[in-house]
Amino acid sequence: MNTTFAVLKNLESNEKISTLDLGIEDPNLHGILLSLSSKNIIEFEIKDHMIHTLSDEGIHTVDNGSHEYNFHSSIPEGGIPVGDNSNPIGRSQAFNNRWIKIQNDMIYKKEENILDTVRNQLQSLNILTVQELSNLKKRNLITSKRSNYYIISRGPQFGKSTEDLQINITSEDIINNTTLNLKPFNFNTVGNFPEFGNFHPLNKMRTEIKNVFIEMGFSEMSTDHYVETSFWNFDSLFQPQDHPSRDSHDTFFVDSKKKIEVPLDYFRRVKEIHEKGGFGSTGHGNNWKEAEAHKLILRTHTTAESARKLYEISQNEFKPMKLFSVDRVFRNESVDATHLAEFHQVEGLIIAKDLKISHLMGILEEFFKKLNMPQIRFKPAFNPYTEPSMEVFAYHEGLDRWMEVGNSGIFRPEMLRPMGFDEDVRVIAWGLSLERPAMIKYKLNNIRELLGHKVDFEFIKNTGLCSFD
Ligand code: PHE
Repeated sequence: MNTTFAVLKNLESNEKISTLDLGIEDPNLHGILLSLSSKNIIEFEIKDHMIHTLSDEGIHTVDNGSHEYNFHSSIPEGGIPVGDNSNPIGRSQAFNNRWIKIQNDMIYKKEENILDTVRNQLQSLNILTVQELSNLKKRNLITSKRSNYYIISRGPQFGKSTEDLQINITSEDIINNTTLNLKPFNFNTVGNFPEFGNFHPLNKMRTEIKNVFIEMGFSEMSTDHYVETSFWNFDSLFQPQDHPSRDSHDTFFVDSKKKIEVPLDYFRRVKEIHEKGGFGSTGHGNNWKEAEAHKLILRTHTTAESARKLYEISQNEFKPMKLFSVDRVFRNESVDATHLAEFHQVEGLIIAKDLKISHLMGILEEFFKKLNMPQIRFKPAFNPYTEPSMEVFAYHEGLDRWMEVGNSGIFRPEMLRPMGFDEDVRVIAWGLSLERPAMIKYKLNNIRELLGHKVDFEFIKNTGLCSFD
């Protein structure tokens, strides 16, 4: 019989019923009762009690009699020798019960007529005292477990149709002031846990790195030029027009006639420094083409944004500043386990008078220490826009090796002087990818697990907080 039907049918003739008496053993019983009570058809309370069942040995005892009874029955009139050890359990229980006695090293019956109490108890478990049950349990003749049952009574809606109970309140109900016959809320149901968004590990890393810069007193630069002119990306940085990185093999060119305006005076001074030099530099001595500088590209580094910012600063009264940026850059690379065609750069710079390479080394030590890379080394390097230039290596304890983590230098006078800065103004700067520390932090070997169409949503969901300790 269907459980719902059985419960309701029984309630028709009984005010209160117990599922114990009904003998219902439906595993869905709890859910069915919750559903009926949420419609106010029934009310119920949960009780619990112990259920005792015979163990294998208990069943054997019921069939064959207890050990002590059998031991007692097996003793002949002449007794059995004390040394006989064929039924040790029966013998010691029979002693405890004072059914037997020892005389002259022989065991004799003390009582002739005895009752097999244990066997009788096992046949009527539900009338035993707690003490008796506990003895049987100690002898492993029964097992006990706690079990729920329900006492059910009629609810206010019992016997009434519940079909017309309303689930939602509509705007019309409110406007018309309708008398509502609402289905009661069921506060016992467990709701679905809602799906929610997760921060991408690179976002977490970016936030942490921003916090490090902010702790060190840096302000953020704006970086809103994904599409950039070659002028700000290369020329303003004194990168010659025939430099290999300006090749379409390394840079994405944007097929557009749109022109991004550049400040004319400054544009001319950049042409001059490239072609003829100045401020003590011989320049590149090449033929600098305006059209080349106007070509639109996807910026290959955030240093293009630093150049824009420095030009802006040069137009105002000088004051020292610490600036940083974190944003996306694009390179026409073939994609492999450690390279993507787009990634993120972190860039920091300090502009002040008379800065030296020792300032740069000191600030890098401080910065990387805060990223939990306390051991760093510098290696002389070359960048078209910095002199001197240094690559930064950090020791990775887990991998037991030195890894390249960044690039740095002092911006060349050929970059700063055409902007209009005085001779003693220096800019120390460094850059690193955001992906590298993220891969170290989240123990990834393949950058494609971090960014791009192969990223696994589960991975994003499960990456922990980013902290550098
Ligand atoms: N722009 C450099 C790069 O793309 C990083 C860098 C920034 C180097 C500032 C020196 C100074 O790797």
